[in-house]
Amino acid sequence: MGVERTLVLVKPDGVERGLVGEVISRFERKGLKIRALKMLKMTREMAEEFYSVHREKPFFNDLVEFITSGPIVAMILEGDSAIEVVRLMIGSTDGRKAQPGTIRGDFALSIQNNVVHASDSQESFEREYKIVFSQEEII
Ligand code: CMP
Repeated sequence: MGVERTLVLVKPDGVERGLVGEVISRFERKGLKIRALKMLKMTREMAEEFYSVHREKPFFNDLVEFITSGPIVAMILEGDSAIEVVRLMIGSTDGRKAQPGTIRGDFALSIQNNVVHASDSQESFEREYKIVFSQEEII
């Protein structure tokens, strides 16, 4: 609780579909502050590290292929209880089950191509943001 930071990725499907502005706008209107923002293409090495907790899952290779398939937009957001607030705003992993009004609930019909990623805990944030951002890129 208190002021937290979290990492959000707009995944290749979200960028390809032109949803970057929509996603950022929702977080800004909520009151979250952008502390870092950039577009990049994840390398296979970055993706395997980023999703290392899923290494043994049957969908791991497809997930790495997907997240490296095109540019993503990464951001660090800051605000009160940001980790929980952002997770609520993005909705359940499976877009078909995500609540309408959430980002995935409004824009995704897939479990893999689910538009956004957000850190699920403080520990995840600490690990994830370092894969994507250098210290100089963070305000
Ligand atoms: P994300 O929140 O980025 O965390 C892990 C990602 O793996 C998830 O979003 C989905 O893109 C993907 N994922 C999770 N479960 C499955 C699944 N059962 N099949 C395919 N992809 C999945």
